[in-house]
Amino acid sequence: MKQIQWTDALRYRAYQDWPATYQASLQQTVAKSPWRTQTHIQPQTGLLNDPCSLNYLNGVWHFFYQQYPFGPVHGLKSWHHLTSTDLVHWQPSQPDILPDTSYDSHGVYTGSGYLEDQQLHFLYTGNVRDANWQRHAYQMHAYINADKQLVKDATPVIAAPPAGFTQEFRDPFVFEYEAQRYALIGGQRQDKTGAILLYRQAAKHDWQFVAPLKLPKRYCGYMVECPNIAFINGKVVLVFCPQGLDKSIFAYDNLYPNIALVADKFDPETGALGSNLNLQQLDAGFDFYATRLATDPAGQILAITWLGLPEIQYPTDEYGWAHVLSYPRILTLDAQDQVCLKPHPNLRQLRQQPVLPTSSANGTQFAFKGALELVGTVDQTQLLTITVPDDTRKTEPALQVTLDFEKGQGTLIRPANTTGGAKRMFDLPTSRQLTLHLFIDESVFEIFLADGRQVLSGRFFGTKAPETLMIKGISQADAFQAWQLQRSNQAL
Ligand code: FRU
Repeated sequence: MKQIQWTDALRYRAYQDWPATYQASLQQTVAKSPWRTQTHIQPQTGLLNDPCSLNYLNGVWHFFYQQYPFGPVHGLKSWHHLTSTDLVHWQPSQPDILPDTSYDSHGVYTGSGYLEDQQLHFLYTGNVRDANWQRHAYQMHAYINADKQLVKDATPVIAAPPAGFTQEFRDPFVFEYEAQRYALIGGQRQDKTGAILLYRQAAKHDWQFVAPLKLPKRYCGYMVECPNIAFINGKVVLVFCPQGLDKSIFAYDNLYPNIALVADKFDPETGALGSNLNLQQLDAGFDFYATRLATDPAGQILAITWLGLPEIQYPTDEYGWAHVLSYPRILTLDAQDQVCLKPHPNLRQLRQQPVLPTSSANGTQFAFKGALELVGTVDQTQLLTITVPDDTRKTEPALQVTLDFEKGQGTLIRPANTTGGAKRMFDLPTSRQLTLHLFIDESVFEIFLADGRQVLSGRFFGTKAPETLMIKGISQADAFQAWQLQRSNQAL
């Protein structure tokens, strides 16, 4: 397919104005792509970004994510709908939420879902650009009726940001606290500092502004995207993306951070969070943004993250698609209130035959095709190197993680064929025995260390599909189990 010049006019062309043959030829281009995954949510064509809503209704998980289906760029966004009974096998479903009204003419932006009267409801941001390309952000309500049709309100439930805030006002996250429904919305003050705005649902279509959450301005960069809140063991966990966060306040290496803040309390009348605020890194890998939290029927907190970032180029672009989502994870706090992320236990369903290690001069080798899961415990007495080699002729690996226990530091490297960087350093947890849980899926890695206290997620783009994982520096006390994984995303 010839390269497209992505002008604004093209990016915002109405969906129905694209010729049907265009989608078909884009699909053929995607079909030729290396790096398509086996077990992750990926777009059929075009670009995927933020996870939006995840709700469990009548035995089915309904999940929606941000998409631009016509190319690997940020264009006219909609919500794409998937369903699953196990959070592992997903099917495309209907309805999607499309940009088809004057309040969402330039994109159905991120939001979240909630259940009411056994129906799925949504709050999302309608993104509109006026003739001068100025942004207007409307918070919109929609729901799916008994005939499985999407019904949008004719007018916004929140028509404008409060006084003192700009139109960078988006990504409502709906939650319940003490039997009352609230929403958090990412925002920006007129003085170009970020904020998270708290709203209370006073009546069905009546959302009242309460206050900005009481956070130091310096924690919020120049604007906040994708706020979430969860209540765990009497603590409050905020997960959000403070764009432009000063690195002297909190260190991060990705273009934009996606971090957690743990607080002692939440006052729904004032937005106060107490004085003990603890910022934490959620992920030390390359690609991690717009995490969405949800609650499962057992009350566990689920987290799904876009394994991509805004404004980053990847080698899949030339094949007409971009980005994947992380596996669903479970978010907990440990005894020290440190956020932990662990892969959802349902992923065990994908395990096929065990992969037995073989020894070679380069270390212990696990051979697989497509996707591999490895679980193990390492004794912290040496340097451990985990490598996904690329081509035998090349000295540069497709992916390498080095755990230097003497220095207490880890290093992650990948080829420099994206604009998102090729190296990350991270701290190693200090316990003597360290659990290691990792997944490799064609071009995706998800690595969970120390029961999810340190997580590394991202993409890597080797010259051929990975077939082996090498571990060097294993000691007698180490123990590993590995499995070839079954493909689960055929329908995507
Ligand atoms: C974050 C974000 C959101 C916005 C959406 C648009 O990645 O910029 O703030 O709603 O993506 O797709």
